[in-house]
Amino acid sequence: MNFDQPDKCAQLKAADANQDVLKFLSQRRSALVRAMSDPRPNAEELELILRLAARAPDHRKLFPWRFLLFEGDARAAFGEHLAQLFQQDCPNMPQDRIEHERTRFERAPLVVGVVSSPKDCPRGTPIWEQELSAGAVCMNMLLAARASGFAAQWLTEWYAFDGRINDVLGLSSTERMAGFIYIGTATEDPTERPRPDVSNLTQYWRE
Ligand SMILES: Cc1cc2nc3c(=O)[nH]c(=O)nc-3n(C[C@H](O)[C@H](O)[C@H](O)COP(=O)(O)O)c2cc1C
Repeated sequence: MNFDQPDKCAQLKAADANQDVLKFLSQRRSALVRAMSDPRPNAEELELILRLAARAPDHRKLFPWRFLLFEGDARAAFGEHLAQLFQQDCPNMPQDRIEHERTRFERAPLVVGVVSSPKDCPRGTPIWEQELSAGAVCMNMLLAARASGFAAQWLTEWYAFDGRINDVLGLSSTERMAGFIYIGTATEDPTERPRPDVSNLTQYWRE
């Protein structure tokens, strides 16, 4: 199959539904980072996953996000920062708890940080919309990774909200982490989790 950028997007007018995609979506769920190992996507597979993730709705084509990749030694190097800051904040924690921080990014062979990077927009695309677009990129990445045969989980944990970590990661003052997408190969199938009865969450608006 050709996954190049299409000149014109097909099937939007066609009436036929895509049962394969519906089945894929009905069975999709995240993997768990504690049940993930090698192999990770190779360079070609990763390029496709990122490109498909970036096909997210985005008001005014601002591309208000960017990616930070962590693989190999970079995962342990980042873990040193996590362990150091954690120890600084919680000096009485046991060693195994600090080790947990040190090895967080080594739970998966690849971690993709999705940075929400809102743009100044003279025509006024709200920051909220730009941040939602970054969330859509994360969701698209989960789908693209899964469809490529990989396991993926979207985590934020404490370090997505820590200004000192933002500095380590080189974020500007207007940027925030939308999430860290841990990607690898599942070592076990995740069990299903409770899903909402959407009828309880849905109503027709009436005056
Ligand atoms: C923005 C965001 C941040 C999340 N952060 C965490 C986290 O820090 N820790 C955690 O255990 N789960 C976190 N989750 C939940 C996991 O992604 C979880 O695997 C997912 O909700 C499972 O649902 P699914 O199987 O439908 O994908 C987060 C989810 C979202 C959307």
